[in-house]
Amino acid sequence: MITVTALKKNFGARTAVNQVSFEVEKGTVLGFLGPNGAGKTTTIRMIAGFLMPTEGSVTVLGHDVQADPVSAQRQIGYMPERTPLYEDMTVEGFLRFIAEVRGYRGAERTERADQAIRACMLDSVRHQVIDTLSKGYRQRTCLAQAILHDPPVLLLDEPTEGLDPNQKQVVREMIARMASEKVIIISTHVLEEVEAICNRVIIISNGSVVADGTPAALKQRSKHYNEVHLSLGSASGPAVKALSALDEVQRVEVVAERDTTCELRITPKQQAPVIAAVLKAVASHGWPVTNLKVDGGRLEEVFRQITRTEDAA
Ligand SMILES: Nc1ncnc2c1ncn2[C@@H]1O[C@H](COP(=O)(O)OP(=O)(O)O)[C@@H](O)[C@H]1O
Ligand SMILES: [Mg+2]
Repeated sequence: MITVTALKKNFGARTAVNQVSFEVEKGTVLGFLGPNGAGKTTTIRMIAGFLMPTEGSVTVLGHDVQADPVSAQRQIGYMPERTPLYEDMTVEGFLRFIAEVRGYRGAERTERADQAIRACMLDSVRHQVIDTLSKGYRQRTCLAQAILHDPPVLLLDEPTEGLDPNQKQVVREMIARMASEKVIIISTHVLEEVEAICNRVIIISNGSVVADGTPAALKQRSKHYNEVHLSLGSASGPAVKALSALDEVQRVEVVAERDTTCELRITPKQQAPVIAAVLKAVASHGWPVTNLKVDGGRLEEVFRQITRTEDAA
């Protein structure tokens, strides 16, 4: 539904986005993840047709964003980092105004605004002046204008930025509800957001794509992937000795030890699954296991490793 080809944007001598290419299919919630200044907003603005690329192209449902911006933009709902809101309008008045701008008249205009109000749970504030809204309701009003024409593509630039945890949860649930019918691209620098709602993540660093995959696949690149954490109700000595001798095991560390309990971290060779070998050893020695956990990898660590050069800058 979206094809981005060799997209590039220079601001003067500075290249903000460099050779970014990807395709996105329906049902995808793509997390566009990167540190501040990585080029997320610039890329999203080019996809939305609000910024001309220096090079490259974007098509949305077959419409070239540069050649035919009106047709492309009809397919897109865009929530910018800072949506221009008309502060002295009510929520309802603003959304009816937006409906009119998008070409709806009469009953359809009212119905479009009402639908957006319902979808974004704005009923309780529909007659309130925008200037007086809390941050959470403001963000939902921004989201409401983005989805008003029920576009198949949603571009949301940091949709939960500045919200408290409850408000974040509400916005994430709204996004999740819309996900199966649409393509949604969410830019964020918040890892937990990616884990909570995205089924694909592109990591962008210094204007370039440095990783692209499912959150689970990216987590597998973590050096902790497939580590086994084992707690025993016994001293560590015999277990460390037996586990270290296993072919699959790279190293065994004692994380904590008291008189009759211990916690071990078992690192596999080449991050291969080691749990089966550990369980076999546990069973054959009859160790008193009190806790057992396999590490699924940590997105935060992968993110830091991949974007490290930018952090240092
Ligand atoms: N209009 C602009 N003029 C000049 N530089 C810009 C402009 N917009 C963005 N930049 C620069 O481009 C880089 C990427 O910015 P941006 O896309 O906003 O990053 P992100 O959204 O990932 O934080 C930054 O270095 C930023 O300062
Ligand atoms: Mg940004």
